[in-house]
Amino acid sequence: MNKKILFLLAISLVFALVMVGCQEDVEETEEFRGFDSLEEAADSDAWEAYFPAQYQEWVATEEMTINPDDTTYGGAAMYVDGEVVKMDYLEIYPFLKTTYAGFPFSQSYYRSRGHAYALQDVLETGRLPDFDERPAACLSCKSTDVVVQEDKYGDDFYSKSFAEVSKDNTVGCLDCHDHEDASVVAQRSYVGEALDHDTFENMNPEGRSDLSCAQCHVNYHFDPETTKITLPWTYGLTVEDQLAHYDSVGRVNDEWEHEITGALVAKVQHPEYELFHEGLKTNVHSNMGLGCEDCHMPQQVDEAGNEYSFHQWTSPLTHVEDSCLDCHSGWGEDGVIERTEAVQSEVYEKQNRLGDELAGFIDKLGAAKDEGSLTDSELEEAQAIHREAQFYWDFVWVENSNGFHNWEEANRILDNAEELINEGLEIVE
Ligand code: HEC
Ligand code: HEC
Ligand code: HEC
Ligand code: HEC
Repeated sequence: MNKKILFLLAISLVFALVMVGCQEDVEETEEFRGFDSLEEAADSDAWEAYFPAQYQEWVATEEMTINPDDTTYGGAAMYVDGEVVKMDYLEIYPFLKTTYAGFPFSQSYYRSRGHAYALQDVLETGRLPDFDERPAACLSCKSTDVVVQEDKYGDDFYSKSFAEVSKDNTVGCLDCHDHEDASVVAQRSYVGEALDHDTFENMNPEGRSDLSCAQCHVNYHFDPETTKITLPWTYGLTVEDQLAHYDSVGRVNDEWEHEITGALVAKVQHPEYELFHEGLKTNVHSNMGLGCEDCHMPQQVDEAGNEYSFHQWTSPLTHVEDSCLDCHSGWGEDGVIERTEAVQSEVYEKQNRLGDELAGFIDKLGAAKDEGSLTDSELEEAQAIHREAQFYWDFVWVENSNGFHNWEEANRILDNAEELINEGLEIVE
C-alpha cells in the first residue's frame, strides 16, 4: 500500500469517527411521531426526549430570581433583604381591600408568577371555597389535564368538582400543542366559541399562534348555567364592549354586591390579550403584526445550531437583546428598558392614584348610603357610576404589563375612570 492511500484511509477513518460522534449527538433527540393518546401527551415530561430545549425552558418557569435591575414593574417576586418573597398585593396596595370588599380578592391576592406555579397557586389560594365545592372550571387555565377532561366529558367537565379532577399537572405542552403533530393550537373550546362572535376589529385572529395564550390571558366569567368558561366578547374586546356584555347577560359569578356601596360590580381578570390587540386606541406593536410570542418567546439557537422559540415565559425585559433590539437597536438595551419603564411608570402611578381615589369614593358613597342622605335616584346613579368606574380601573389594574401592552389605551381607560369617579364624588359630597 503506498503512503498516499494509507493517508487517505487514515483521513477517511477520522472522518467516519467524527461522523459517528456527530450522529451520537443528534441521536440524543428522538424524532417526534406523535402521541397515541391525549393522556400520554398530557404528561409534559413525555415531550422531553423529542424537544429537550423547549422542555428545559418550560421547567425553568419555576425560577423566581429575576434581576431587579432588569425590571421595576415586572417579575413574580419581591426582594426583601436580598430574599425572594411572593408579592402580597393586599399589603402593598391597601386600597384593594376597599375596591374588592365583599369579594374573595379582598382576602387573598398575590402577584402572578411562572407557569410552573399555576396549579399550586390555585390549590393554595385563600380565595376559593373547600375543594369539594370548587368547580373544575377554576382549573381551566391551571392544568393540562383540562384538555383530556374536556375531550372526555365535553362541557360537563366544567361543573364537576375540583376534587374529582385536580392532579399535579400544571400548564404544559399539550395546552398549546397538538398531540399528533405538535403544531401550535388553542385546545380549549371556549376560545373557538368566543371567536364565533367575530368581533375582532383591529386584527384578524385567524391562524395566530398566540391564540394559544388567549386560552388563559383573557378576561372571563363562568356561564351561569353550565359553569363553562365564557369570554365576554359578544360585542367586541374593548373595555366598553366587555362591560356591555356583562350588562346584557344577567348576573354572573364574577359579579357581586359591593359590601360598602351596594353596587353590583364585576371583577375583571387579566385581559392581556384584549389590551394588546384591541382597543379604541390601537397599539403600535400589534399593528405591526406582532403577537405574544414575538416578545415573550424570541428565537434561540440550540446546541446543534437549530433555531427554536424560547419557552421560559417571563418579563421580556430580561431578554431585550433577543426580543426588542432587532427593531430598537438604536436605543440599546438600557434605552429599551428606560423607555419601557417611562410608559409603564405613567400608567402605574395613575392606576394606583385612581385605586386610592376609587376607594375614597366608595367609602363616601357607603357613608352617604348608611346615613340615608341621598335620594333613591341619586343612590342609584352613584352606584351605576361605581360599577362603571371600577370596571374601567380594574381592567387596567389587573392587566399584567402595567400598561406596556397598549399604553395609549390604558391611559384612555384610566382617564375615563377618573372622570367617572369625579362625577360620582359630586353626587355624594
Ligand atoms: C412588543 C412586545 C410584547 C408583546 C408582543 C407582548 N408582550 Fe407581554 N410584556 C411585554 C413587556 C415589555 C412587559 C413588561 C415586563 C416588565 O414589566 O418587566 C410584558 C409583561 C407581560 C406579562 C407580565 C409579566 C411579568 O413579569 O409580570 C404577561 C403575563 C404578558 N406580558 C403576557 C403577554 C401576552 C399574553 C401577550 C399577547 C397578547 C403579550 N404579553 C404580548 C412585552 C410584550
Ligand atoms: C393554560 C393556561 C395558560 C396558557 C395557555 C398561557 N398562560 Fe401564561 N400564565 C398562566 C397562569 C395561570 C399564570 C400565573 C401563574 C401563577 O401565578 O401561579 C401565567 C403567567 C404568565 C407570565 C408571568 C410569569 C411571571 O414570572 O410573572 C407570562 C409572561 C405568561 N404567562 C405568558 C404567556 C404567554 C406568552 C402565553 C402564550 C404563548 C401563555 N402565557 C399561555 C396561564 C397560562
Ligand atoms: C403556553 C403555550 C405553550 C406551551 C405550554 C408550550 N409551547 Fe411550544 N410553542 C408555543 C408557541 C406559541 C410556539 C410558536 C412560537 C412562534 O411561532 O414563534 C411554540 C413552538 C414550539 C415548537 C416549534 C419549534 C420552536 O421552538 O419554535 C416546539 C417543538 C415546541 N413548541 C415544543 C414544546 C414543548 C416540548 C413544550 C412542553 C415542554 C411546549 N412547547 C410548551 C407555545 C407553547
Ligand atoms: C417588529 C419591530 C418591533 C419590535 C420587535 C419591538 N418594537 Fe417597540 N416599537 C416599534 C415601533 C415601530 C415603535 C414606534 C416607533 C418608535 O417609537 O420608535 C415602537 C415603540 C416602542 C416604545 C415606545 C417608545 C416611546 O418612547 O414612545 C417602547 C417603550 C417599545 N417600543 C418597547 C419595546 C420592547 C420592550 C420590545 C421588546 C420586548 C419591543 N419594543 C419590540 C417596533 C418594535
